[in-house]
Amino acid sequence: MSIHTASTPKKITVSTIRQMKSNEPITMITAYDALFAKLFDGKVEMILVGDSLNMSFGGNPDTLSATMEMMLYHTKAVCNGAKHALVVFDMPFGSYTTPKQALANATRVYRETDAQAVKIEGGKERAKIIRRLTENSIAVVGHIGLMPQFVRSEGGYKVKGKGADNIRKLVEDAKAIEEAGAFALVVEGVKSEAAKAVTEAISIPTIGIGAGVETDGQVLVWSDMFGFFEDFRPKFVKQYLDGAGLVKEALERYVHEVKNRQFPDKEHTY
Ligand code: KIV
Repeated sequence: MSIHTASTPKKITVSTIRQMKSNEPITMITAYDALFAKLFDGKVEMILVGDSLNMSFGGNPDTLSATMEMMLYHTKAVCNGAKHALVVFDMPFGSYTTPKQALANATRVYRETDAQAVKIEGGKERAKIIRRLTENSIAVVGHIGLMPQFVRSEGGYKVKGKGADNIRKLVEDAKAIEEAGAFALVVEGVKSEAAKAVTEAISIPTIGIGAGVETDGQVLVWSDMFGFFEDFRPKFVKQYLDGAGLVKEALERYVHEVKNRQFPDKEHTY
């Protein structure tokens, strides 16, 4: 039996998500505005206001130029549309370089939006920062593996968790993040055996993206999975809809009808 159904959705909390580990796969999707958040709400447990919006919606080459102001604006919009899903705010690059700065920025998130948690990229080197947030009553989702905010420093997007040493490192990172008080962990772009090892090593749920089927849940970027982002499609993205194709076809019909004075017809005229 699912924790929620479309007809009787409940407000999802941090403890709901914790309890789902090993019971029921957690579903998470990104959203950047109220319109789509409302469409997704009640169907998924978690909505991530990802800094991926800087690429898909901002048209930028990576996530690094996303700012606190942008993320706050989009998170407020998402919270207006999402009444049931747990909303996670993705801390943008440069907003959590020290525990003090991270706390100041995460406090803004709680004060200025209804988001229930923040997400932070990084391994055990971020444990102190995560600890500062969790001991100040801010719920944190960690993020390890392929971390898009490291794209320039690592020279590209690289699949992680290849070989025993790298798996061991991911497990150590995951344990440090759990120990620091995070309630969930995004595991991105890793070999499925690494995701499995991480999932088995910690008691908080793992949410995978490009990490195979062994994690406690899955997350995808909505514009990728619904086929709106045409620039590239990573191997792990399953396209559930040809969004771009449908929009283009509908737009062509509109243009055709306007050009041929078929729209507006009587039905759409006062
Ligand atoms: O920004 C984002 O959308 C993310 C997901 C890829 C997990 O961090």
